[in-house]
Amino acid sequence: MTKQADYDAVKKDIIAVLKQPEYDDGSAGPVLVRLAWHASGTYCAETDTGGSNGAGMRYEAEGGDPANAGLQHARVFLEPIKEKHSWITYADLWTLAGAVAIEAMGGPQIQWKPGRTDFADDSRLPPRGRLPDGAQGADHIRFIFYRMGFNDQEIVALSGAHNLGRCHSDRSGFEGPWVNSPTRFSNQYYKLLLKLKWSPKKWDGPFQYVAKAPGADDDDEHLMMLPTDYALIQDDKFRPWVEKYADDRDLFFNDFAKVFAKLMELGVYRDESGIAKADKMKAYNAEYKSAPQKSSKPGAPGAGKDGEADPLARQNAKAQRQARL
Ligand code: HEM
Repeated sequence: MTKQADYDAVKKDIIAVLKQPEYDDGSAGPVLVRLAWHASGTYCAETDTGGSNGAGMRYEAEGGDPANAGLQHARVFLEPIKEKHSWITYADLWTLAGAVAIEAMGGPQIQWKPGRTDFADDSRLPPRGRLPDGAQGADHIRFIFYRMGFNDQEIVALSGAHNLGRCHSDRSGFEGPWVNSPTRFSNQYYKLLLKLKWSPKKWDGPFQYVAKAPGADDDDEHLMMLPTDYALIQDDKFRPWVEKYADDRDLFFNDFAKVFAKLMELGVYRDESGIAKADKMKAYNAEYKSAPQKSSKPGAPGAGKDGEADPLARQNAKAQRQARL
C-alpha cells in the first residue's frame, strides 16, 4: 500500500494499465473516460443530486442502469490499482483515471481535484435514466445537459470525447468507432461529421449513421455516428461550434479541458480540508471514506445482467489477467 494522498503514484499506475493489447483497439483509455463521464453525468443542478461523489456505480441501483452497460470493464481494469493504493476512494479513482487517460491518449491536461468520498450505502444515489440516449435528437441532448448546467458550446465540446473508443452492439446496441484512430485524442470527430457522407446503416440494429472512412476499402470497418452526434450538425446553434472545433484543434483542446474538469466537479462540495461532503446542506466535517476493495474477481456466472454474467465474466477475467501491474 502506498502512502495516503500520493496521487502521482496512482496516476503512474493508471498509465500502466492503459495498454491492453487484447481489448478493443488495444487501450483501456476510452472506456475509462466513459466511466468518469457516466459517474459524473447523473448530476441535476435543480435538485443538487447525482454526480461523481459517492461512486454510486458500485451499487446495483446505478451500476445496473442499462446506460452503464460495459462499464464493468473499466472498473475491473482499475481494481489492481485500488488493491495497491487502498486508501484512494473509488469516486476519486474513477474520475482521475478518465483525466489521466485523456492526457495519455494525446489530449489536453485536465485539472483534477481529489477529495470525493465513497458512500457507505445506496441511499443517496440518483434515479436511473439521467444519462443521454443516443437514439434521440437535439431537444433530448439539451434536456439532459442543461439539467447538469451546461450550455450549447459546452455540449459540443464534451461530445468531442467521441474521438475516442467505439460502440459495442452487446452494450449499447450501436456498433463501430467514430474515427480511424479511436485511441488518439484529436478533433477528427468534428472534421468527419462535416466531411463524410453519412447514411443510415442497413442492419437489424438501432438506427445509426455509417460512412466509409477516407482511404478505406469496401470491406474495412465503417465509421459511425449516433443520431445524437449527427444532431450536432443539424442544429443551428450546435453546428457553428462543430465548425469551430473542426477548424481549430487548440480551441477544442482548451475548451474540452475546461468542460471535462467542470463535469467531474458537478455536485462535489468540499469542506475547508478539501474533502467532499455527502450533503452540502449539513454542517459537519467530511471524512475521506474509502470503500473497501470490491472483489477483484468477476461475479459468479449467471449473476445477472449487471453482475458480470457470462460472457462479460469471461472477458473481465481476461482483462484482469492483462491488467496486472
Ligand atoms: C448526447 C450525449 C452522449 C450520448 C448519447 C453518448 C452515447 C454513447 C454510446 C451509445 C456509446 C457506446 C457505448 C458502447 O456501446 O460501448 C458511447 C461511448 C463513449 N462515450 Fe458517449 N455519449 C454521449 C456523450 C459523451 C460524453 C459527454 C463523453 C465524455 C466527455 C462521452 C464519452 C464516450 C467515450 C469515451 C465512449 C467510448 C467508450 C468505449 O470505447 O468503450 N460520451 N457514448
